Amino acid sequence: MNVVLQYLHLLLLIPFLDHASSNTIPVFNAIYSFGSSYEDAGNMAILAPTAPGFWNVLNPPYGETFFNLPTGRASDGRLVIDRIADYLGFSFIPPSLAQGQDFSKGANFAIFGSTALNYTFFQQNNIRNTHLHNTSLSVQIEWFENQKPSICNTTCVEHFTKSLFALGKFGDNDYLYMLSGGKTIEFVNSTVPVVVETIRSAAERLLKQGVMHLVVAGVRPNGCVPVVLTNFASTNRSDYDSLGCLKVYNNIGIYHNTLLCSAVKQLRLEFPQAKISFSEHYKPLIDFVSNPSKYGFTSGTQLRACCGTGEPYNYNLLASCGHAGVPACPNPSTFINWDGIRLTDAAYDIIADGWLKGPYADPPILDLPILDLPIFVL
Ligand SMILES: *[C@@H]1O[C@H](CO)[C@@H](O)[C@H](O)[C@H]1NC(C)=O
Ligand SMILES: *[C@@H]1O[C@H](CO)[C@@H](O)[C@H](O)[C@H]1NC(C)=O
Ligand SMILES: *[C@@H]1O[C@H](CO)[C@@H](O)[C@H](O)[C@H]1NC(C)=O
Ligand SMILES: *[C@@H]1O[C@H](CO)[C@@H](O)[C@H](O)[C@H]1NC(C)=O
Ligand SMILES: *[C@@H]1O[C@H](CO)[C@@H](O)[C@H](O)[C@H]1NC(C)=O
Repeated sequence: MNVVLQYLHLLLLIPFLDHASSNTIPVFNAIYSFGSSYEDAGNMAILAPTAPGFWNVLNPPYGETFFNLPTGRASDGRLVIDRIADYLGFSFIPPSLAQGQDFSKGANFAIFGSTALNYTFFQQNNIRNTHLHNTSLSVQIEWFENQKPSICNTTCVEHFTKSLFALGKFGDNDYLYMLSGGKTIEFVNSTVPVVVETIRSAAERLLKQGVMHLVVAGVRPNGCVPVVLTNFASTNRSDYDSLGCLKVYNNIGIYHNTLLCSAVKQLRLEFPQAKISFSEHYKPLIDFVSNPSKYGFTSGTQLRACCGTGEPYNYNLLASCGHAGVPACPNPSTFINWDGIRLTDAAYDIIADGWLKGPYADPPILDLPILDLPIFVL
């Protein structure tokens, strides 16, 4: 066989090969991310740095573990998206609202406090919250669509085919705003299918624009998070599970994730060429809380914030992390939770690893095959 024939032979085989069994790292040409304070890498710091409920994120000790200064990330260090970008060979993905940035290697549209549902939903239901702004998922996708001409202009489909898109954790804020706004658990539960449908349709909107590699994240167990344990504390012991988490809020999360997982399966049928990964916040947090020492966290602190004040969860809205005189624990890497709501650099690292390699994503990101013809190898 001559060289050309050999090459043709290879070319025919390659589309059917899967990277799953190899140790190669997929080569994406860009990463685009959407989300809320679990993913925001500086957008809120640009849009509304003095917003109530946010300004304290711009004070130390936020950022102390990795950046040595507050960056607008609601953690002591890096977020899941930062770790994934690093692993895939990217530097930090710039916040989409940053001026004068080159977004051709990616942009992070996530912003603090975001919801899946539109702002108008909360207005119409008379739900107010200082963290609530008009920055819902559909607004972020609109930002993305408006930025497209400067990202890829006439070659977007080509560009997106090899980009990684991540729809971060949407839904937890929707449910918490409703609960803080006095809505019943039955009301909240009745909105779960609507929230999930909103996320599904946002994913579909991206897939219709040529996106081929998409990560869709589920919600966390809200009932294990210090802010919820504090604000919705119950005197009835049977409201708590064996881990000390509030069952009813976790059940909302389980319901949401079950519906979202089905929605992802439906999208895979609708877009058979696209690779869609369902990624978890629920399972890792339950794993950490169930067996903290296995993951390097100090046993006994698993439901406490590292940075904060107040008993028994070290959380108090009026004296939370970033307020003057509020201390952080001496070693944040031994804590799961950073500020009562978001997680530590250490916890996000384990979650990112589980999304890249399993077991916290299905399929793991490293197993997303990229159609990669070796045209330039000749
Ligand atoms: C929210 O922002 C979107 C997009 O910028 C805009 O179309 C919409 O009118 C805004 N909604 C409200 C209630 O301000
Ligand atoms: C997009 O491409 C068109 C046609 O090539 C060109 O006229 C236009 O200036 C480009 N726009 C941007 C924002 O680069
Ligand atoms: C929420 O609704 C679903 C579907 O109707 C139901 O199966 C589930 O028990 C409900 N959960 C709560 C916490 O009310
Ligand atoms: C609400 O969100 C949907 C997407 O779920 C979008 O199509 C619609 O334009 C939004 N409406 C408003 C009033 O922002
Ligand atoms: C505690 O909760 C359980 C289960 O929801 C309920 O059956 C019981 O009546 C509650 N007890 C009190 C004292 O309210």
